[in-house]
Amino acid sequence: MPIKTIIEPFRIKSIEAIRRTTREERQKLVEAAGYNLFLVDSESILIDLLTDSGTAAMSTEQWAAMMRGDESYAGSPSFARFRDSVQAIFGFRHVIPTHQGRAAERILFSVMCKKGDVVPNNTHFDTTRANCEFVGAQALDLPIPEAKEPARVHPFKGNMDAARLAEAIERQGVKKIPLVMLTVTNNSGGGQPVSMENIRAVKEICKKHGIPLYIDACRFAENAYFIKLREPGYAKKTPREIAREMFSHADGCTMSAKKDGMANIGGFLCTNDDTLAQQQKDLLILTEGFPTYGGLAGRDLEAIAVGLNEALEEEYLKYRIASTAFLGNHIASEGVPIVQPPGGHAIYIDARAFLPHVPPAQFPGVALANELYLEGGIRSVEIGTLMFGEHAKMDLVRLAIPRRAYTQSHIEYVVEVILDVWRKREQIRGYEITHQAKFLRHFSARLKPVANRDHDECNH
Ligand code: F0G
Repeated sequence: MPIKTIIEPFRIKSIEAIRRTTREERQKLVEAAGYNLFLVDSESILIDLLTDSGTAAMSTEQWAAMMRGDESYAGSPSFARFRDSVQAIFGFRHVIPTHQGRAAERILFSVMCKKGDVVPNNTHFDTTRANCEFVGAQALDLPIPEAKEPARVHPFKGNMDAARLAEAIERQGVKKIPLVMLTVTNNSGGGQPVSMENIRAVKEICKKHGIPLYIDACRFAENAYFIKLREPGYAKKTPREIAREMFSHADGCTMSAKKDGMANIGGFLCTNDDTLAQQQKDLLILTEGFPTYGGLAGRDLEAIAVGLNEALEEEYLKYRIASTAFLGNHIASEGVPIVQPPGGHAIYIDARAFLPHVPPAQFPGVALANELYLEGGIRSVEIGTLMFGEHAKMDLVRLAIPRRAYTQSHIEYVVEVILDVWRKREQIRGYEITHQAKFLRHFSARLKPVANRDHDECNH
């Protein structure tokens, strides 16, 4: 009989202790943080599922490569290795390093967009939307209708609604749409993949109108593996071959190497357009650095050069996707409402369905995230009314899994804590804001639990 157990395809060489706190301690800590988990120190967190971004454990090969890092201001061989590694997978003519994904976004939109433009995407991530809006353009989300129903199972729930894209182009006029984006996997829509068929269909529409297509590539390897698992015709292809095909349909990409770059910092911007590349490099020098380092140390470029390849290893992807699905399927089988099917990097709990007695205006996602912290020292993040304001279509709590950092027993612990909170969900109260910033308010907002009286009134 073939052995079925999927294991972590690595062993651990260096460990980092994590600290347990008591519920009383956590109560004080979260209160002092204005009930915003972004404002709690990481040393007071037991299992940190705030993000999968920049939190990966690096491999011995990455650490070894870092020693080769050449810190020359210009023309570093580390840049050459980084560029070659990126080009071998992504295939674009110009590779511009940036300190992280949002820097690539800022440069892309500054060069390509003007006030009044419209940028369609399957779903813009929050920094993508903010950078787009910052230059006066409108960030237009066009997910397929299935994406709006958390419980609905669809193999490629991250797809863009191609018909609505065509409509939007007709309505706005080609001149108003400087580029179209596709986010793989679709983070804000539940970490759901985009199919090759959809990438091709979107490209077809873009091509017809002469509009360039850019891919937000953060989790490209996970997306490629989902295509292998779910899309007819791809089962025998390697994730690398699939990734190459995905990018062959695009004119460029933005990338946060903090995700499928397996690095703790870094990103890049790619394009096939020589004129745009020159403008982008000019802007890069202004705020990021010379085009052969773009705000990164030579060491970081080396770590990314190796990490991109490790992210595409099949044994790794198999374990990665299985581990995320284990968490999702276990809690879902006990009735916890999650975005179905489980995504690549994270499980998203539907907080509106989990806490139907807490109205969206009282931030059910924040309420659930705080309870998971109080119960078990787990940090997650709200993606809902606090993050997007009244435009939020869902209130989700994301449990993002850092790459290669936690083991199966950590995941089992998380399952147990969530199920404990599920059993006492009726006692969980909503929140109200006491302080907020003008944009990206979720990072710094301070809140307090609604008084019992308000809570009772809401229930009547
Ligand atoms: N695009 C997507 C789809 C992302 O998920 C992120 C970051 C970015 C762009 C921006 O990249 O952080 O390197 O500037 N997402 C992180 C997260 C922060 O937690 O999901 P960055």
